[in-house]
Amino acid sequence: VVAASPEPHRPQYHFSPKAHWMNDPNGMVYFNGTYHLFFQYYPDGTTWGPMHWGHATSKDMVRWQEQPIALFPDSLGYIFSGSAVVDVNNTTGFGKNGQTPLVAIFTHHNPVLEKQKTGKHEYQSLAYSLDEGKTWTKYAGNPVLPNPGITDFRDPKVRWYEPQKKWIMTLATKDRITFYSSPDLKNWTRESEFGSTVGAHGGVWECPDLFPLTHNGKTVWTLLVSINPGGPNGGSATQYFVGDFDGKTFKPYSTETKWLDYGTDNYAGVTFSNTGNRTILMGWMSNWQYANVVPTDPWRSATTVPRELGLKEVNKELFLTSVPVEELGALNQETVLVNNLTVKDRYELTAKTRNESGLFRLELSTKTAGDFAIVLANEQGNEVVIGYDKTANAYYIDRSKAGKTGFEKGFGKRHTAPRLSVDPKISLTLLVDVASVELFADGGLTVMTDIFFPDTDLTKLVIKSASGIVIPALEYTKLTSSVK
Ligand code: FRU
Repeated sequence: VVAASPEPHRPQYHFSPKAHWMNDPNGMVYFNGTYHLFFQYYPDGTTWGPMHWGHATSKDMVRWQEQPIALFPDSLGYIFSGSAVVDVNNTTGFGKNGQTPLVAIFTHHNPVLEKQKTGKHEYQSLAYSLDEGKTWTKYAGNPVLPNPGITDFRDPKVRWYEPQKKWIMTLATKDRITFYSSPDLKNWTRESEFGSTVGAHGGVWECPDLFPLTHNGKTVWTLLVSINPGGPNGGSATQYFVGDFDGKTFKPYSTETKWLDYGTDNYAGVTFSNTGNRTILMGWMSNWQYANVVPTDPWRSATTVPRELGLKEVNKELFLTSVPVEELGALNQETVLVNNLTVKDRYELTAKTRNESGLFRLELSTKTAGDFAIVLANEQGNEVVIGYDKTANAYYIDRSKAGKTGFEKGFGKRHTAPRLSVDPKISLTLLVDVASVELFADGGLTVMTDIFFPDTDLTKLVIKSASGIVIPALEYTKLTSSVK
C-alpha cells in the first residue's frame, strides 16, 4: 500500500513550482554548465495574474531547483513571455570588464494602456544579468521595440544569425509572425512578416520560435507558432512550418498545417538558447481552456519533459520529430524486459512490472500496425487509455474516465492524432508521471501530451487488443522522482 501523497497530482519528474500559478516557459538558456528555465509566474495566487518571470535551474534539465523570482512587473507593465540569449560578443555593451551578459528580451504588457484601449499596450523590453541569472537589471532605455498599433504584439524569441552577424527576433503579431533584426538588441528593424494567409488561424498567434535543423546535410528552418484557441483537439496548441530563412524572409516548403503535439497539454513550447547542435524544447503542460481550474493545490501547472527536436522525411514531406532528451535516463530505476509477447484480448503487465509509483517509461514495438491499447488504471476504476486505431490510422489518448474531469466541460475527452509514419511496425515511448502521459510514436513523428487527475495514482498497467497484436519487444522502466 502506498501512502497517499500529501499533494495529489504533483508531478514527480516534471518541473512544477512549489506554489502558485505558472504558464509559459520563458528565456530557456544554457549558460556556463547550467540550464535556466524562467516561466510566466503569478506569486500571489493559483490563477493567472500580473506576470513575473519565475526561475529554476538545473545541471541536466531533469532535476530542477526553483530560484527566487527573476523579473517583477514595473511601471511599463507585466512581464510577459520572451527569450534569453548569451550575448557572447557583448553587442549590448551590458557586459563590464569582459563579462558576458545574459540578456532577457520580453514583452511588457501594460494593463493601464490596455484598459484605455490604445491598442498599444504590448512592447518589447530588455533586462540583463551579470551574475548568471541571479539578479537582473532592466534596461533604462525600455522599451526597445515600441508598439506600432497592433493589439497582440508579443513573445519575442531572439537568436543570433551568424551569416549576417545580427540578432533576429521572431515576434507574434496577432495573426502573423513579424521578423525584426538588430545589431545590438536595442535597435530593431522590421524585416518581413509571415503567415496571415497560411496555417491554422482558429485563435491568436503566440510564442513563436524560429530555428535551424539539419536534414541530409542541408539547413532547414522550422517556425513554431502557438495558437489559442484552435488546436487539433480543442483549446491551445502549437503548429509549425518548415522552410527556408535568409536573414530576412521565411519561405515555407508547404503551407499545410502541421502540429508539434496533438495532445491538449503542450503549449507555448520554445527551444533553449545556446545548446550548440542540439535543439531542445520544453512546453507548458496545460491548456488555456482549463489551466485556471485544474484540481491542483497549492500550485498550478508543470512543464513537459525536455524534448530533442529533429526532422524526418515521409513521402517526400518533412516533419518535425520530438523525442525525450537522453538526460532523462538519470531517472531510470529497474527495467523489466518482455520479449515476444502476443496479446490477445488483455495482458496484465502490472504483475510483471510491479508498477507501484505510477512513474515509468514504457517502450514497445509491434510486429504490425494493428489495434492495441495501453490502459493505466486504479482500483477506483479510473483509467487513461493510450492506443492505436488501425481503421482511423490514428493514435489516441482517452481521459474521459480518468477521475476528476468535471471541473471543465471539455476536459474529459478522447483525443486523436494521425499516424504519419508509413513504417509497417509501430514503435512508441510513453512517459507517465502521476498526472500526465507523453506519447512519442514512430521516432517522435506523432506526439501527444495529456494531463489527468485520477482519484488515486494509476498504478495498474494492462495491454489490450481485441484483434490480437504481437509485441516483439517491450521495455518497462520504473522512474524515480526528481522532486526534493
Ligand atoms: C501564451 C501567452 C503569451 C503571453 C503570456 C502571458 O500562453 O498568452 O502570449 O506572453 O501567455 O502570460
